[in-house]
Amino acid sequence: MRLGVCYYPEHWPESMWEDDARRMKALGIDQVRIAEFAWSRIEPTPGEYDWGWLDRAIDVLGAAGLKVVMCTPTATPPKWLIDRHPDILPIGADGRPRAFGSRRHYDFSSPSYFAASQRICTAVAERYGKHPAVAYWQTDNEFGCHHTVVSYSPAAVGRFREWLKARYHTIDALNRAWGTVFWSMEYRSFDEIDAPVATVTEAHPSHRLDYRRFASDEVARYNRMQVEIIRAHSPGRPVAHNFMQLFTEFDHYKVAADLDIATWDSYPLGALEEQWFAPEVKARWLRSGHPDFASFNHDVYRGMSKLPFWVMEQQPGPVNWALWNPAPLPGMVRLWSWEAFAHGAGCVSYFRWRQAPFAQEQMHAGLNTPDNRLDVGGTEAAQVAGEIHAVLAANGDANASIRSKVALVYDYEAKWLFEIHPQGADFHYPRFAFEYYSALRALGLDVDIVPADAPLDGYSMIVVPPLPVVPAGFAQRLADSGAQIVLGPRTGSKTGDLQIPANLPPGALAAVLPLRVWRVESMRPNVTETVRLADSAEANGDDGFARHWRDFIDSDAADSLDVRARFADGHPAYVRSGAFHYFASLFDDSLTVRLFERIAREAGLVTMSLGDSVRVSRRGALTYVFNYGDHAHTLSGVAGEAFVIGSHTVEPQGVAVYRTR
Ligand code: GAL
Repeated sequence: MRLGVCYYPEHWPESMWEDDARRMKALGIDQVRIAEFAWSRIEPTPGEYDWGWLDRAIDVLGAAGLKVVMCTPTATPPKWLIDRHPDILPIGADGRPRAFGSRRHYDFSSPSYFAASQRICTAVAERYGKHPAVAYWQTDNEFGCHHTVVSYSPAAVGRFREWLKARYHTIDALNRAWGTVFWSMEYRSFDEIDAPVATVTEAHPSHRLDYRRFASDEVARYNRMQVEIIRAHSPGRPVAHNFMQLFTEFDHYKVAADLDIATWDSYPLGALEEQWFAPEVKARWLRSGHPDFASFNHDVYRGMSKLPFWVMEQQPGPVNWALWNPAPLPGMVRLWSWEAFAHGAGCVSYFRWRQAPFAQEQMHAGLNTPDNRLDVGGTEAAQVAGEIHAVLAANGDANASIRSKVALVYDYEAKWLFEIHPQGADFHYPRFAFEYYSALRALGLDVDIVPADAPLDGYSMIVVPPLPVVPAGFAQRLADSGAQIVLGPRTGSKTGDLQIPANLPPGALAAVLPLRVWRVESMRPNVTETVRLADSAEANGDDGFARHWRDFIDSDAADSLDVRARFADGHPAYVRSGAFHYFASLFDDSLTVRLFERIAREAGLVTMSLGDSVRVSRRGALTYVFNYGDHAHTLSGVAGEAFVIGSHTVEPQGVAVYRTR
């Protein structure tokens, strides 16, 4: 458990660096990330490197006892490089190149950019790979930020054709897999296939899905190139990338597979503003962030990181990039930091040391104000640093790994598929995955977030948000896990080629769950359907309601299917067969929590009723409690527990940590 900070020596006079480094160290910071946007200073003119300033900056940091997280600067190709190789610029869906003048203006498929990146990464890795102060690496910065995963350039289309050849081998196989006989879309060779863009109406969904898969693989290929260069020149130093919050435009599992550390950038207030949450939800958590949002991301990235995951950038105060940018409540920077550690983080690194008074992010806070005084976030970071010592001293295994009994299956292709073929305009996969997660967290359960091909044994409960394409063997692995299994609607509803399975949904899952989805319907946001439980105690027959979607279920093996809830029109809303529980819709939050609670108890899990503002996590021998609400929360059943931080009364924005009995 340690703290870090993002620092831009190139933004400040060299005369400030030593004092900055000294104050960082005094604040309790251990590591400093640098140089991810510094290409124009490292190589001001083609082939002429200016290492002097960066050498000195690293030396100053190292001399202060700080470890450096060195970055490759490829998120910001300099102007001269773009002018030499305009094909570096990605091409938008409108067919126009995106312009120089901000960042991430590159195409993952551009051969000139690939070569230029190899060159600059090699130069940086050669120079600093064995520097004693350089302890870690970061590749690039936030792959995909600003909608940059997909490009429609000629280079991308050329590589897409190669990708298709490798996947389908023959054009006949592709025609069959996609079903191009529909609307006379048949191809005679791979070279006839373009990007699925600018069509008169909806482009072919299988074509679109493959283009997304291809673009995702391009990100992984580009990252792998950088990792290999770094490893060759900097053996033994872990390589990280900083992923984004709830970002789904490429398959993060595939990119993380090449890294040592998956890290992510946590901006709880900006995220709340930008995500799907209803206006009243945004107002409610305006200055704290949604109580499950950062946690969800922690658990996503913990699951794919070989070493303990990190928060590479932690929001320190107001950001600049959301529609509205509120200030965190006092205490929130501390709470967010502890929450990351509670979920298994090895490091929380604040973005950024000092607010720069110029350029795009001049309104974005840092730990220090532009006039170099400690801001609220800086004070709270210092508090966390002190508390880390207390926690480590009190408990030898504070750095222990997390052992959850609940797994939530999380998938990137599901997002793309439902976006390409939504059938209901608001069928937003990340939202549904998050809502299931949130319901589990309201029950006090620790959750591992895993890919569909992860080993599933050892879990007591496995929750699968709508997963249209189930991988080979998934049904059997679920059955063999011995866990209680919850499947969301539309699970197993498509083949890998984006077709309806021959036996109808849930496709291959029908082998373990004898049902057939013979019809579906989507529902407008202002429409709900009543749900009644088979053992309802409600006089009015209204146990909750269904939203967004309905699967219409029947079964050839009706005996082995237990209808646990029905919609008002009598169709099954929740059916069960042995350990498998299938939800035919997305239920309201309260009903979801109640159903998960019953299923968790059947799985032998102990649940809590935390409501929406208190959250509990366990790591090693410690239990962590966080209060996002407006009122103090009194912990019950903790008499005699040894508190390391706080006490049994957890104030609003408060944190308590105690030894679990
Ligand atoms: C991140 C990015 C940083 C900075 C920050 C501002 O997305 O990695 O460079 O822009 O957001 O919140």
